[in-house]
Amino acid sequence: MNRRKIYEGKAKILYEGPEPGTIIQYFKDDATAFNAEKKGTINGKGVINNRISEHVFTRLSQIGIPTHFVRRLNMREQLVKQVEIVPIEVIVRNVAAGSLTKRLGVEEGTTLPHTLLEYCYKDDALGDPLIAEEHIACFNWATQDEMQDIAAMAIRINDFMSGMFAAIGIRLIDFKLEFGRLFDGDFSRIILADEISPDGCRLWDMETNEKLDKDRFRRDLGGEEEAYQEVARRLGLLPEESDADVLDMEHHRAKKGK
Ligand code: TMP
Ligand code: ASP
Repeated sequence: MNRRKIYEGKAKILYEGPEPGTIIQYFKDDATAFNAEKKGTINGKGVINNRISEHVFTRLSQIGIPTHFVRRLNMREQLVKQVEIVPIEVIVRNVAAGSLTKRLGVEEGTTLPHTLLEYCYKDDALGDPLIAEEHIACFNWATQDEMQDIAAMAIRINDFMSGMFAAIGIRLIDFKLEFGRLFDGDFSRIILADEISPDGCRLWDMETNEKLDKDRFRRDLGGEEEAYQEVARRLGLLPEESDADVLDMEHHRAKKGK
């Protein structure tokens, strides 16, 4: 199709949308970890993340969180509002895992006494370094009003998503959010952008502590395709005959080396 590619990231491609102010997000099967030092693919991931992110963003907008999501277009694409991305990754943590355990020597799986918000500066060349709110103010990456909106939304999103996943036997350990500025003339307001999927969340089965997220890929645990499918299935998003069929077909093709 003859449309302009705006940006290609590690897991998604952004194309110009059909109307001004819109963008198409295409979800790839590519997976990276450790700032793209490790590269691979998770078959069918793009299809599943497109569906999961659609589901979560729709539910969040129903509780009054403004998001960039407009509608899903097909298996791998969704239409979103064009925003100016705030160059900050917001990490929300309920249980110690990942870089927190390495940085501070806390044992993985330790429940935190309260939800922890962390900020990283979005810059691949620098490896998305952890920053303090003071850096955000100092370098003008976001205003104090914007940071208040971002923190308040992140906490509400965490409360909602913790409940949503608990209802299907999954513990929400931590996750990453990105926000953007939606402009209306000279004014802008902060809305939730990017995606929410097992790529950017840690999700553990409540009974077995089995990891149902990208840590399976990061740590070479295997079974990443099944884990992503399991999350979608528990959310009631699979099997939809069509999705299951396409995933099977794609899987079949990938196995045959095409
Ligand atoms: P971390 O423990 O590696 O800092 O990751 C915390 C959460 O943020 C985890 O759920 C994975 C997610 N995340 C991303 O989505 N993208 C990233 O680049 C990083 C570093 C983490
Ligand atoms: N997505 C990031 C990367 O490639 C980090 C991660 O999710 O572990 O590098």
